[in-house]
Amino acid sequence: MRSAPLLLALALALLAVAGPSPAMARRHKGEEEKACDKGWEGGGECSGSRFCCNDTITDYFKVYQFEDLFAKRNDPTAHAAGFWDYKAFITAAALFEPRGFGTTGGKEVGMREVAAFLGHVGAKTSCGYGVATGGPLAWGLCYNHEMSPSQSYCDNSNELYPCVEGVEYYGRGALPVYWNYNYGIIGEGIKQDLLNHPELLEQNATLAFEAAIWRWMTPMKRRQPSAHDVFVGNWKPTKNDTLSKRYPGFGATMNILYGDLSCGQGSIDSMNVIVSHYRHYLDLMGVGSENAGDNLDCADQLPFNPSSKSLDS
Ligand SMILES: *[C@@H]1O[C@H](CO)[C@@H](O)[C@H](O)[C@H]1NC(C)=O
Ligand SMILES: *[C@@H]1O[C@H](CO)[C@@H](O)[C@H](O)[C@H]1NC(C)=O
Ligand SMILES: *[C@@H]1O[C@H](CO)[C@@H](O)[C@H](O)[C@H]1NC(C)=O
Repeated sequence: MRSAPLLLALALALLAVAGPSPAMARRHKGEEEKACDKGWEGGGECSGSRFCCNDTITDYFKVYQFEDLFAKRNDPTAHAAGFWDYKAFITAAALFEPRGFGTTGGKEVGMREVAAFLGHVGAKTSCGYGVATGGPLAWGLCYNHEMSPSQSYCDNSNELYPCVEGVEYYGRGALPVYWNYNYGIIGEGIKQDLLNHPELLEQNATLAFEAAIWRWMTPMKRRQPSAHDVFVGNWKPTKNDTLSKRYPGFGATMNILYGDLSCGQGSIDSMNVIVSHYRHYLDLMGVGSENAGDNLDCADQLPFNPSSKSLDS
């Protein structure tokens, strides 16, 4: 058993030399499975992942679709024109595909997950308003940082991730990150020193997407699910969840990421705008907003994490 990883590495090395072949490689659990010989991004990244041979995001989400979703992001009036692109998203996403991001449950679930994740991103980075050309939903990825921070977002009571002098922790990135402690946690997650260098999230679009996908994939508290888990069906609600009206679906992703800032308050704008982006992206991707899934909103859900310290400001 101890030599299994070595054998696998050897098999992959041989594949790389010999090119695609129907070679069999022995996997961890001992079952025979076809070695993945399709163009999984990052090549060896996929070895040992149970998502290995499934469709990757580039199989079903192409550059023209990214351009459709974020049609106005390079408009001269957009605030981050020239910053965001497809390649940055795909490069970041490839790091999480072996863990199931966009690769769980087949192509349709994958497309829905990409629409859901990007729906959050679009809503949180939009500068669209009622009369904007192209409609309010065409302006996702308009920003890469908060324009006029209303406060310093430094919590000096946090000993684990103390504020660094002269560094500011206003909102930055694809799912904007606020506060020293959030930069600290997320920086550890993506192995970047964001506590000292939060500006990386407004200087490097790949890192901005990486931070956002890390948040999507990672439970914020022990014994809680991630947004990914509640969306793709990995999560089974407990009795307490059911009593709190938390069910699997898009609604619960908002609950995890924003808690009572968006959820449990009826049909409020800060919730509806995220749902609208998700549904719009499903339509643009050809999945159709009628396939948005059950439990689309969180109007009646009690928050997983009652506020003030939720990741959004
Ligand atoms: C891979 O995709 C198939 C359908 O294409 C799906 O049934 C299966 O659950 C997927 N595997 C994983 C690990 O999600
Ligand atoms: C962005 O960060 C990634 C990951 O550290 C790095 O590989 C890439 O070169 C950076 N891009 C730019 C434009 O600095
Ligand atoms: C059940 O949910 C309520 C409200 O969300 C929460 O205050 C309580 O701690 C939860 N109980 C358990 C055992 O998780």
